[in-house]
Amino acid sequence: MSQAPAVSAIEWRDDTLWLLDQRLLPLQEVWLSHADVQAVVKSIRDMVVRGAPAIGITAAYGVVIAARHRIAQSPTGWRQLLQADFADLAESRPTAVNLFWALDQMKIALDKLDPAADPVAQLLQEAKHIHEMDLAANHTMGHLGANLIRQYSAQAKGVITHCNTGSLATGGYGTALGVIRSAYAAGLIDQVYADETRPWWQGSRLTAWELQKDGIPVTLNADSVAATLMKQGKVSWVIVGADRITANGDVANKIGTYSLAVLAKHHGVRFMVVAPTTTFDPNLPHGSAIPIEERGPEEVVAVKGQQIAPPGIAVYNPVFDVTPAELIDAIVTERGVVEHPTTEGVAALLAQAPLH
Ligand code: MRU
Repeated sequence: MSQAPAVSAIEWRDDTLWLLDQRLLPLQEVWLSHADVQAVVKSIRDMVVRGAPAIGITAAYGVVIAARHRIAQSPTGWRQLLQADFADLAESRPTAVNLFWALDQMKIALDKLDPAADPVAQLLQEAKHIHEMDLAANHTMGHLGANLIRQYSAQAKGVITHCNTGSLATGGYGTALGVIRSAYAAGLIDQVYADETRPWWQGSRLTAWELQKDGIPVTLNADSVAATLMKQGKVSWVIVGADRITANGDVANKIGTYSLAVLAKHHGVRFMVVAPTTTFDPNLPHGSAIPIEERGPEEVVAVKGQQIAPPGIAVYNPVFDVTPAELIDAIVTERGVVEHPTTEGVAALLAQAPLH
């Protein structure tokens, strides 16, 4: 890989897939190897690996593992058998469209296999390509996002971010966190406020850990502190990632993102979404069509297995929300920036030439 990330979450080594178990961070760094595709499906579902691009990359490697197994099982009928593995991977999580994009890329690679060469090696090459392209896209977005911040650099140098969008959530470097890394390196940011990101604590457990490792000044806050930070003039930008962006520029991202966008509008704080074009779903006209994952009540009623709410309490736990395009100042992608996104703006962006 050309630009090695400081932290990585996904590695292909010793002929297998290794994932850093994000459920245990920041206290333990444990890598899990994946011998079969069902283990990969479980790791995505159980959040060993999470973050839209990281889920897609993991699923691509999952196809490689599945193909190896199916070829051993049936050298002539393996392609047919592999369809069930594609279906299982596609059902692992519903909201991040990068998962479906990556599986589509692997299906295209499967259709184009050179019959004279090893199919597993060819599929592995495609999975590695998906991984490398994501890392490259993040570096490009980091540069473009930092340039955007530079245009308004007379303002406060604090930013607030939500969830984890860094090396752990991507092929490396990060989307929103990539912009924050680039902008900090350019002297455009001097303080990052990280929402803790209830109920799964991606902010406190992952973002705070990544930024601290990089030596970027980070202050952790409860999600409900965001309005106060804005009122106090401590942040000039909200910078977040995305799990799915529809044709009109609506953005699904971690629950709480929409609240930040509403707060930002009220306080005159700018709102930036950073996502590779693999996060766009131009087939959906607007955000209300995005499937929103709901997870179990245990994420809300317990912390590390310790019950913190009355037993039997009803819980509503949607883990993503949709921010309407009209609340977004800019969407930064590796193909360029769309300010004040509209259907026309998104279509023009997606018509730009992709990275190779
Ligand atoms: O439930 P998660 O942790 O997978 O949710 C992750 C997010 O919502 C991120 O903000 C998004 O995937 C962008 S990551 C580059």
